[in-house]
Amino acid sequence: MFEIPKFKTTKKAVKRIAVLTSGGDAPGMNAAIRAVVRTTIAHGAESMGIQRGYSGLLEGLIHPMVPASVANIIQRGGTILRTSRCPEFHKASGRKKAIQTLISQGVEGLVVIGGDGSFRGAKLLHQESGIPVVGIPGTIDNDIPCTEDTIGFDTAVNTGIELIDRIRDTASSHDRIFLVEVMGRHSGMIALHTGMGGGAESIVVPEFKTSISSICESIDRGARRGKTSSIIVVAEGCQFRGVTPLAKELEKRGYSTKIAILGHTQRGGSPSAHDRLLASTLGAVGVHALLGGVKEGMVGVQGSRIVLTSFSKLSARPSGLPAEMLDIARNLAV
Ligand code: ADP
Ligand code: F6P
Repeated sequence: MFEIPKFKTTKKAVKRIAVLTSGGDAPGMNAAIRAVVRTTIAHGAESMGIQRGYSGLLEGLIHPMVPASVANIIQRGGTILRTSRCPEFHKASGRKKAIQTLISQGVEGLVVIGGDGSFRGAKLLHQESGIPVVGIPGTIDNDIPCTEDTIGFDTAVNTGIELIDRIRDTASSHDRIFLVEVMGRHSGMIALHTGMGGGAESIVVPEFKTSISSICESIDRGARRGKTSSIIVVAEGCQFRGVTPLAKELEKRGYSTKIAILGHTQRGGSPSAHDRLLASTLGAVGVHALLGGVKEGMVGVQGSRIVLTSFSKLSARPSGLPAEMLDIARNLAV
């Protein structure tokens, strides 16, 4: 259970709060939208929804939300508000249009559910408009500084493990080596967690270099003790740039492999219990922060505490993947 921060209620309470989702969709975003809308209304403020992230904000795609607008969505993947990547938002002229929408609609607080890119945009939006903006970390990658967890990561890992279990049936029936590529952009968090949870023989991540010879050694070591199949989990952002170039390298050394790219299958689907709880809590606390007079920052998780961190502290890369966990995973595959 989480330790929830308390925000003092201000005299000049925020009366209208809008919410948008931005960047890659993540399972649990709907639970977060639901929490933002209902918490806003429960505190006597008005709720607005913005369609298609920053693109929709530029285009004025904003509408009122009522409790029924978010009924029956806690179990649904994706985002009912839809999402986008918006190149125009990188330019001050694009953000000016977005600010005009917020001002003309009387929005006094904005909740941005997205990843670190979305928060870079949120920081500028706040700086250039003075409108309070709170971020809720929503990305399967779990790569945002100052929060140990992000909405969607747990579901993506569980989906990855379920798919690896299926692949293992074929790998062991046909004596095959499978290279399974998982998402994560520049982060190896999904690879580490799915690899450990799926009992992979080897895990290749962007944070640490892995030599081809060490991968071959893990396959050979298994073969020496009678293993006839192997699963190697490969993060898309690793030094080989995914499974296809790695398969070619292994082919040159005489290893025949099959590849499976899990891709966007990890982004969709019904959110896990963990992600629903996380999203509901972060969404609610994000609204508490705005109602309590917070001007900017991301609501994240550190240990069991829900904490608010200024957007300006999110520029550094997260402290990263623990090498010790990779060592543990390696030893579990002997
Ligand atoms: P995520 O939020 O999942 O990391 P992106 O990095 O694609 O996804 O960012 C989502 C959107 O946030 C971008 O399409 C853009 O509109 C906005 N954004 C990202 N970086 C910046 C930036 N440096 N300045 C302004 N807006 C940004
Ligand atoms: O950030 C989430 C993520 O799924 C990454 O893991 C992946 O690299 C990227 O988005 C894929 O983006 P797109 O859906 O635009 O192909």
